[in-house]
Amino acid sequence: MALAPSKDTAAAKDTAAKGSASDREAAPARPPSRTPTRGFWSSTIGKKTVMAVSGLVMLAYLVAHVAGNLKVFFGPEEFNAYGHWLRVMGAPVLHHQWGLWIARIALLAAVGAHAVSAYQLSRRDIKARPTRYAHRRKGSSYATRTMRWGGIILALFIVWHVLDLTTGTVHPGGFEEGRPYQNVIDTFSTWYGNTIYIVAMLAVGLHVRHGFWSAAQTLGVGNARRERALRLTANLLALVLTAGFIAVPVGVMTGVVN
Ligand code: HEM
Repeated sequence: MALAPSKDTAAAKDTAAKGSASDREAAPARPPSRTPTRGFWSSTIGKKTVMAVSGLVMLAYLVAHVAGNLKVFFGPEEFNAYGHWLRVMGAPVLHHQWGLWIARIALLAAVGAHAVSAYQLSRRDIKARPTRYAHRRKGSSYATRTMRWGGIILALFIVWHVLDLTTGTVHPGGFEEGRPYQNVIDTFSTWYGNTIYIVAMLAVGLHVRHGFWSAAQTLGVGNARRERALRLTANLLALVLTAGFIAVPVGVMTGVVN
């Protein structure tokens, strides 16, 4: 009958097979085995692609959001009906609010992916910066700095905005669930509501203008022939979004929306 090897024998065989710690140190380093997904994510182009795609998802949301917001100019019935539709979209296939939750989760994933890749790319950029040349201007380019600060302002704004108009936590006046028209008027009847939103809308414009252009380069859409068309599209998108969003507080301030 064959005897099972003792624990000690098995451990000795294992050590012999793997080699001692010092042997392992002396052995040439083997590249770590990576799955294609991990390899893609750890490369700079992979992170830039994630940033570009998640940015385009958020851009699509903003285009839909600005169109929905402009309904405020058609009165409370139409605007509140749009707020209601957000909760029943996908019905009767989807249960109440399921469509909205799917959109929220997709949006949250896009925001998370965008923020993580932006942070990691900026760490990489700082590490790679030459420090040997004291005379070289420290820091990053104007566009990079604007994008970083714009991104931070927008992230803070989104938190404020959700607490203001979705949950009502920081809403001025009594927040009324299901009556977004009145809620929007309350927000834009305060000086700080107008200031926060208008500053954020300007940040949206600047961020989209440069972000759209960068995404086109990353995704390989940009080339010398298309440069003019891409720049024009980026400027147009930024202008339409900023003007469309700012129209709402301006409408309330001037009494057009009341
Ligand atoms: C004047 C400008 C804006 C107005 C009047 C406005 C209005 C609203 C309203 C009324 C809601 C609540 C919808 C509902 O639940 O019934 C909402 C939700 C939201 N808005 Fe805005 N919005 C503006 C700008 C923006 C901008 C610039 C962003 C992004 C950068 C944004 C992102 C969101 C998000 C993420 C939600 C949460 C959606 C949800 O989970 O319910 N909004 N907005």
